[in-house]
Amino acid sequence: MKEELLNVVVRKREIQGADVVVLDLGRADGAALPAFDAGAHVDIHVAPGLVRQYSLCSDPADPSVYRLGVLKDPASRGGSLGVHEAMQEGREVQISTPRNLFPLATDAKRTLLLGGGIGITPMIAMAFSLHRQGAEFELHYCGRSRTHSAFLDELANAPFSARVVTHFDDEDSAQRLDLPAVLGSGTAGTHLYTCGPAGFMDWVMAGARQQGYAEDHIHKEYFQVEVDASGGGFEVVAARSNKTVQVAEGQSILDALAKVGIKIDISCEQGVCGTCMCEVLEGEPDHRDVYLTDEEKAANDQILVCCSRAKSNKLVLDI
Ligand code: FES
Repeated sequence: MKEELLNVVVRKREIQGADVVVLDLGRADGAALPAFDAGAHVDIHVAPGLVRQYSLCSDPADPSVYRLGVLKDPASRGGSLGVHEAMQEGREVQISTPRNLFPLATDAKRTLLLGGGIGITPMIAMAFSLHRQGAEFELHYCGRSRTHSAFLDELANAPFSARVVTHFDDEDSAQRLDLPAVLGSGTAGTHLYTCGPAGFMDWVMAGARQQGYAEDHIHKEYFQVEVDASGGGFEVVAARSNKTVQVAEGQSILDALAKVGIKIDISCEQGVCGTCMCEVLEGEPDHRDVYLTDEEKAANDQILVCCSRAKSNKLVLDI
């Protein structure tokens, strides 16, 4: 099925913090954009063959704009650098319709939003939604310093500003995030959402587990991961296509399949979004993604072919 793309223009562009470009995207004719729920992202077609995902951080109730923030990553494989260089005001750009892999639970008694660095973006949209619902929530924003951090003015002026607490590494210790105190007891019906650098998120999630949070009350979204492509070769059988390919050392399954004409839908190519998921009929995957849960990985019946490999000599996939 061909993905529906939206044509939008960059209405406003602003550099905030050290290296974050904040973009307001809208229709050229000012018409309403498709609705989205807090936590959603869009795929930005940065250049031919270069698609990257960014969380929407505008108010979901405002259909006139999709706002997103993109941190310039010097190690970028083209995505964030491409956005910083190419997305100037007035530029036309193609994006996907919003998709949500990080939705708010509907049964939370209390919600904690813990964003690290640029991981604050989905939390802002969530805060708008929770505020509108009259929900009980707190938004904690952790960063290296005020001068490095984007969205501070927006958060200070937001209708939910009284629920925002900032924590900066280079300021006095009294304002640092006291994780156990903020988390409280996980048995109190609290849902936790975290997004940010992997080390920050792992620390938050480990703290939550220690405080008794159930796994289904811990919600996470990785915005960037390093793909580990190391490991030896193996064979992949595409059962429905009746083709067998050899995946070479350091080569992705995705790439090997493409070479024999089997095209898999992809988006992030980093094991983050789940777009490239295939069913495993036989063999043991070596999961390298951050999309599947530990339980789903243990079941060994699905694999993300953009990044994962095989522990067995052969994988049979339902493609
Ligand atoms: S393309 Fe996003 S997980 Fe594979």
